[in-house]
Amino acid sequence: MTSLSDSRSPDDRNTEPVGIDDIPREKLPPHVAMIMDGNGRWAQGRGLPRTSGHEKGANTIRTITTECARLGLRQLTLYAFSNENWKRPRTEIAFLMRLLRRFLIDERPTLMENDVRLTAIGRLDDLPAGPRTELDRTIELTKGHAGLNLCLALSYGGRAEIVDACRKLAERVRSGELAPEAIDEDSISRNLYQPGRDPDLLLRTAGEMRVSNFLLWQISYAELFVTDVCWPQLDVPELHRALRAYATRTRKFGGLVDPAVHPARR
Ligand code: FPP
Repeated sequence: MTSLSDSRSPDDRNTEPVGIDDIPREKLPPHVAMIMDGNGRWAQGRGLPRTSGHEKGANTIRTITTECARLGLRQLTLYAFSNENWKRPRTEIAFLMRLLRRFLIDERPTLMENDVRLTAIGRLDDLPAGPRTELDRTIELTKGHAGLNLCLALSYGGRAEIVDACRKLAERVRSGELAPEAIDEDSISRNLYQPGRDPDLLLRTAGEMRVSNFLLWQISYAELFVTDVCWPQLDVPELHRALRAYATRTRKFGGLVDPAVHPARR
C-alpha cells in the first residue's frame, strides 16, 4: 500500500530515482487538484516575511502547470484563495490580490506557449476589480486552447459551492421547470461552478491531513497524496513522486476491481 503522507527528509527524497516518462500515460491522473499550503511557513523558516512565501509560491504555480501541460494532463485545479482567506489581515489580502493580478498578466506568455486554458471557480464577484478584470481577460485570451485546463479556485469554498448549486436547482424547482424528485447526484454535479471530471488525485503540500473545504463534493473518490514539502518548494521531482504513487493505486469507487462490474466514472 502506498503511504498517505510522505514524511521522508528532503535528503532521502533526493537519492531516489525520479522521472515519470516510463509511466504509461493512461496511468496518470487526468485531473489533479492541489491544496497549496505552507507559503508562510516556508518564508518564516527562512527569516523572510510571509509575503515572500506567496511570491515564491506564484513561481511554483508556473513550474507545476508547465509540467502538467507537458505530461498531457487534462486539468489542474489549484486552491489559490479560499472563502476563509478573507479573514486574514487586510495587508496580506491586499498583497495576495496584487500578486494575483500581476500573475494573471505575467503568465499569459507561458499559458500561450503551453496551450493552457485558464478557468476559475469560486465566488468570483468577491474579487477586487483589478484581479477580476485581468482574470476575465486571461480566461478570454486562452479560451481556445486545447491543452491543460488550469482552474484557479478563488474566493472558493466547497460548502459555498454546494449551497450555490442547491440555490440554482431551487430556482428551477420554483419556476416549475424541475421536479424535486428529479434532483439526483448528477444534477448537483452539473450545477457546480465548473461541471466536468472530478479530481483523480488530490495533492496537499506542507503535511496537514485536512481537506480544508476544497472541492468537497468532487473529491469523494479522489486519491490523496500529502507531502511535507511546502508549496514554494514543490518541484517537478516531487510532483512526479505524487504521480507515481497515484499510478500504483487501485481505484474501485466502492465497487470491485473488474471494470466490467463497475464501469469507470466520468
Ligand atoms: C497557503 O499558504 C497558501 C495560500 C494562501 C493560497 C495559495 C497562494 C499562492 C500560491 C500565492 C500565489 C497565488 C496566486 C494565484 C498568484 P499559507 O500562507 O496558508 O501558509 P502557512 O500555512 O504556512 O501560513
